[in-house]
Amino acid sequence: MQLKTFAVSALAAAIMVGCASQQPAEPTKAKAKAAAPVAAKKAPPKVISGASGAMLASTCEGCHGTDGISDGPATPSIAGMSEDYLVEVMEEFRDGDTKSTVMGRVAKGYTEEEIVAMSAYYANIEYRGASQSADATKLAKGEQLHNKYCEKCHHEAGGDATDDSGILAGQWTPYLHYTMEDFINGDRDISRKMKKKLDQLLADEGHAGLDAVISYYGSQK
Ligand code: HEC
Ligand code: HEC
Repeated sequence: MQLKTFAVSALAAAIMVGCASQQPAEPTKAKAKAAAPVAAKKAPPKVISGASGAMLASTCEGCHGTDGISDGPATPSIAGMSEDYLVEVMEEFRDGDTKSTVMGRVAKGYTEEEIVAMSAYYANIEYRGASQSADATKLAKGEQLHNKYCEKCHHEAGGDATDDSGILAGQWTPYLHYTMEDFINGDRDISRKMKKKLDQLLADEGHAGLDAVISYYGSQK
């Protein structure tokens, strides 16, 4: 149904463009660039169906919370992460490269353009961490282990929004535990370098070490 509607509106749009400009249906990139008015740059990304990122994102709110700030505990907050990261993760869910409970099915319902539009929308909303409390000794240990094994890529206690590795600071700890299990079990792709550091952490400190790091992330704002 959805696909058909999309195909029909895509066709209609193509016909309209064709009629209005009397140009071949596929102008070269250079021509398209030259023809685009400067003001169009500032407009929010549009998709061919006409839905904006904000409109599309309204279907995510039931699970990911208003403005992508989740009420937890197994559904992550998604606001403020880099657009590149969000697009990549959605594509991995869609293509079945990353195991998921629901996101594989959700992501399959969107075109590439819609995924980009939603990602841009969420990337522009400010992130707010959940600031979950934990024992002070455990947090100190977690901070030390984070600095040793993880900080190289997850800057600012995992809270650097410009990282292309997601935001870990203030993320829900049950979600972080699930996703770390996915990495460890090979259900989610991991870079060779992160795998090496994670293996080192587990070899040196065991699961208690990983638990401390996760609690440290969860305690951030
Ligand atoms: C039915 C609940 C539900 C809906 C609806 C939903 N999500 Fe999710 N989302 C989840 C859960 C649960 C996870 C964790 C992965 C999994 O198990 O599916 C997740 C994970 C994610 C992640 C990964 C975050 C990270 O840090 O790696 C992104 C990105 C995401 N969702 C985006 C979206 C977008 C965009 C929409 C709307 C089109 C959406 N989700 C709709 C439940 C949902
Ligand atoms: C060499 C760089 C690197 C190092 C070191 C690294 N990571 Fe990562 N991490 C990444 C990248 C890149 C991603 C995004 C993976 C993807 O796109 O699916 C990621 C993703 C994650 C995620 C998933 C975030 C989410 O919201 O889904 C968690 C959790 C995580 N890392 C924890 C850790 C921990 C704990 C350590 C230290 C033991 C660590 N990482 C070390 C690069 C790194």
